[in-house]
Amino acid sequence: MYIDLRRLTGQPCEMGALQKVLEGAPSYAKRVTGHPPEGAEARRLFSALPPGVPCDNKYLYGVMAGEHDMIGCADVIRGWPTPSTALIGLLLLTEMHQGCGVGRCAYHLVEAKVQRWPEIDVLRISVVCSLAAVLPFWRRLGFAETGEVQPYRYDTLVSESIILTKSLRDDDRPPDPAS
Ligand SMILES: CC(C)(COP(=O)(O)OP(=O)(O)OC[C@H]1O[C@@H](n2cnc3c(N)ncnc32)[C@H](O)[C@@H]1OP(=O)(O)O)[C@@H](O)C(=O)NCCC(=O)NCCS
Repeated sequence: MYIDLRRLTGQPCEMGALQKVLEGAPSYAKRVTGHPPEGAEARRLFSALPPGVPCDNKYLYGVMAGEHDMIGCADVIRGWPTPSTALIGLLLLTEMHQGCGVGRCAYHLVEAKVQRWPEIDVLRISVVCSLAAVLPFWRRLGFAETGEVQPYRYDTLVSESIILTKSLRDDDRPPDPAS
């Protein structure tokens, strides 16, 4: 499947497609919020920013299969929590598109975009413990746990997040066992 990323600008048709994507991944929503996706989930994701981060540093992409079919999304914050780090706030595909290689492909498109930001040398991801089953996905893509664990809270759901990072500098990367 040919996939691409499209940066979302908040237009109503985009927000409608994004809302359908989020509603197409209900088990993710239940694990991180304790309930199914809500009606305003796309708007909430579009405007979510860590405190003090300017809107220009938020890059929300639709994962597109062809010109019109949004099948996932990726949310990246440039320069957070440090100026040389980019946080992947979310990489998500609808459940019907999971488990067939699209996530890997979408991740590589995200990484290629971040590689063009000269000040960024680390990618960071925070995985809520209730999503720990996805850790092997991030490890396969070159991420490693830092040992840092942060408190996580959403409404009444109280948990912890596991922090993983990946260096974008070739000289910091572990050798590829295949080479
Ligand atoms: C996480 C997600 C983006 C992964 O995308 P995907 O298309 O399902 O994953 P892929 O098929 O591209 O898998 C890539 C590799 O990771 C591995 N992998 C993916 N999910 C895995 C899992 N849950 N457990 C073990 N390995 C997994 C695959 O086996 C594959 O390994 P391989 O190279 O040996 O074949 C997707 O499953 C998703 O949207 N999940 C819901 C949202 C979510 O949890 N996002 C992460 C938030 S931290």
